[in-house]
Amino acid sequence: MNVKEAIYEWYQKHGRHDLPWRQTNDAYKIYLSEIMLQQTQVKTVLERFYFPFLERFPTLNSVAEAPLDDVLKMWEGLGYYTRAKNLHHTAITCNGVLPYNPEELGGLKGIGKSTAHAICSFAYHQALPILDANVKRVLCRYFALSVKDEKVLWEKAWKLLHVHYPYEHNQAMMDIGAMICTPKNPNCLACPLSFSCKGKEKPEGYPLAIKKAKVPTKKRFALVIVKEGKLGLIQRNERLLHGLWGFIQVDVYPSNAKSLGSVSHTYSHFKLQLEAMQCESLEKVDGYFTNEEIAKLALSTVDKKILALPAMMGNIPPTS
Ligand code: ADE
Repeated sequence: MNVKEAIYEWYQKHGRHDLPWRQTNDAYKIYLSEIMLQQTQVKTVLERFYFPFLERFPTLNSVAEAPLDDVLKMWEGLGYYTRAKNLHHTAITCNGVLPYNPEELGGLKGIGKSTAHAICSFAYHQALPILDANVKRVLCRYFALSVKDEKVLWEKAWKLLHVHYPYEHNQAMMDIGAMICTPKNPNCLACPLSFSCKGKEKPEGYPLAIKKAKVPTKKRFALVIVKEGKLGLIQRNERLLHGLWGFIQVDVYPSNAKSLGSVSHTYSHFKLQLEAMQCESLEKVDGYFTNEEIAKLALSTVDKKILALPAMMGNIPPTS
């Protein structure tokens, strides 16, 4: 048996066939899963986000017809909100119908080459390989490549692809990357590629680990502004949390303010330490909201953490 057949056989026996995005050939449902899974673990997507999103937006057309705020609300807590904005933009751009052609798909906002290939192979069984982070690791080890070079890796991905079973091949590569060929302690004994794997004697060397720079910590202050029992919030327009509602943030310690406690949150490039300060601010908010109204807005996780501070519980009296 050659390695392509071994991968195929392994998938039949051990693949995660019950994942819901593997029980459908609806390109939208597959596309949605791929976008959610880009930066979020299977377990989180499965348990908290995939089904509620599909309940609210059963078709790509329903995404296109909804205001961005509604899409962001369903994305709330999943993070990396650019994904939701791109999804909304793409739904509108392609009139609710995803193209069949991988180049056209890959040209849409938020859909890179690997995601385009994943959609085409999973929804339409087109013979195209994928190259996400897990698959890159499997290929580096299998071909004993110590550096991750995109061009080389695409060549290897094409070389290994089982052109008669691209769907099974790609799903298997994802499963092997997630469950067997893990970053630490890969389980080579269970791996269908191991009999011809060039890197199995030294898996930690393929690819060679590059020391990651430690993420910096930013200390900021969130202004809790209360007026007649309502909280003053802004709708963010900066890149990271665009469109989400939250407390005004400032870099400088606000005067005449009372500390309500601190929260922290780690983003991809920095850790934010945020001290909530109740104050009467001259800073402009975009609106004042009751707790019930806030529940309907999309807030970022860090703003939700502030709302959950013990000092925020109950009605906050206006600052005297
Ligand atoms: N991660 C990205 N796509 C996936 C898929 N189809 N199955 C499991 N994990 C994934």
